[in-house]
Amino acid sequence: MATACLFDPLHILIVGAGTGGLACALACRQAKPPIRVTLLERASELLPIGAGIQIPPNAARIMDSFGLSEKLVQAGGIIMDAHVLRRYANGSVLVDKSWVPQMRDQYGADWLAEYQLMLVDEVKRAGVDMRMGAEVIKVNIDSNEPSVVLKDGSILFADVVVGADGLWSTTRNYVLELPVTPRETGDLAYRGTFSAQQLASLKDERISELLSSSSVQVWMGPQKHVVFYPVRSHTEFNLVLLCPDTVPKGKRTAEGNLKEMEELFEGWDPILRKLISGLKTALKWKLHHVPRQETWTKGASVLIGDASHPTLPYQAQGAAMAIEDGAVLGLLLSHLDAHRQANRGDKHAQVASILRLFERLRKQRTEINVAGAVEKQDFYHLPDGDLQVERDQVLSDIAQTDFKAQCKWSWGDKSYNDELLGFDVLHDAEEGFKAWIEHECPMA
Ligand SMILES: Cc1cc2nc3c(=O)[nH]c(=O)nc-3n(C[C@H](O)[C@H](O)[C@H](O)COP(=O)(O)OP(=O)(O)OC[C@H]3O[C@@H](n4cnc5c(N)ncnc54)[C@H](O)[C@@H]3O)c2cc1C
Ligand SMILES: *[C@@H]1O[C@H](CO)[C@@H](O)[C@H](O)[C@H]1NC(C)=O
Repeated sequence: MATACLFDPLHILIVGAGTGGLACALACRQAKPPIRVTLLERASELLPIGAGIQIPPNAARIMDSFGLSEKLVQAGGIIMDAHVLRRYANGSVLVDKSWVPQMRDQYGADWLAEYQLMLVDEVKRAGVDMRMGAEVIKVNIDSNEPSVVLKDGSILFADVVVGADGLWSTTRNYVLELPVTPRETGDLAYRGTFSAQQLASLKDERISELLSSSSVQVWMGPQKHVVFYPVRSHTEFNLVLLCPDTVPKGKRTAEGNLKEMEELFEGWDPILRKLISGLKTALKWKLHHVPRQETWTKGASVLIGDASHPTLPYQAQGAAMAIEDGAVLGLLLSHLDAHRQANRGDKHAQVASILRLFERLRKQRTEINVAGAVEKQDFYHLPDGDLQVERDQVLSDIAQTDFKAQCKWSWGDKSYNDELLGFDVLHDAEEGFKAWIEHECPMA
């Protein structure tokens, strides 16, 4: 008790146990000394999003910093060995970008695919006060004593409120002091999964090849593209179809109609039709974004992940950016907490200032990511014509220079990918914190 009173430790309240909230909670608990964290999740149970997601090296490095890379692979995470882009009409390979060992050598971690992040288990083990079925309906943005109101009427206070509540964030309405409704992007995603047996029973030679491969396969065609990859030790497979949005306005998801999906891909590589016919069910998701915001912080509250910068899923970076956000914010808050043990100062001013530092460290990078995914929407969806012919030619040319060249499309551009996949956000945050202590940290 004595020590607690001496330095008045921080208490962090996180709204939402998605990848961003979980990463932030874990980073806070792994700090020395650990910070007190309360994590509120609306759902009564956490279910994996579809069959899995891709974990690019920038996110895999964060998992490594949590000490979780090995567990990720043990739990069925697959090290992906290539990214293959194909022509929609006949499936011929336009470019095969090898990821092994390039990702590890250049960016310090592999590109993985995993069926569910094991962050939940880890967070519970680390002593986070995690409350399921806890829906936040209101946030009191008060610099000195922020609090949240739950659906059951209870009120919780903390030093910092982190809005990690995703695309449809409630916290965002209070931090920005006006309701922001996500906008439709014009695209939707069908997501379906197969078991290995289901795929084998389709008895197709080319599908059988895909069964044993560890690559992300993409078919690119006019207005649409298709992504296919294995998860969970090759026992499950993910199929994502990206198409123009036909879901009625205002509706977020709908049951996918397999016949409609087959029709959408008429004239495409025949194995896609076959794959679709092998699905049991699929879900249709409307893809949304929110307009760029000037700021994500107000007083002692801050937004992270999809609550602040949702993105089209076209560079497989949404969850990756949320994990980076969570880890960076956790690092800054734990450094602040440790600093306060020796140097008190004005807690509220320090918290508000460190949240502004967080925003400064994360804003440009996440905005570049959002813009990059929009650019990839054009890149993947080019109609047949001169520009498509040029794109396909450029892709086969860069393969010959081993992806070390400049490219007018970010997919093939060396410096773009170095920055996206290789930039060390934790080191950047360490440096940012040092400079903050020296120049900005509010004292008494
Ligand atoms: C088709 C598709 C494919 C994708 N593929 C990839 C991929 O391969 N790689 C990748 O990195 N990303 C991918 N993404 C993006 C990724 O899913 C999201 O960017 C990521 O989940 C965002 O994480 P988050 O923690 O910010 O929010 P979420 O994961 O949305 O988590 C928010 C959490 O907050 C909870 N919550 C919401 N409101 C409240 C409230 N009021 N009170 C309490 N709790 C609340 C929710 O229940 C939820 O658990 C894909 C997205 C789509 C649509
Ligand atoms: C696929 O189509 C492209 C463009 O029409 C053509 O150049 C290529 O030879 C075809 N490949 C196969 C394997 O049929």
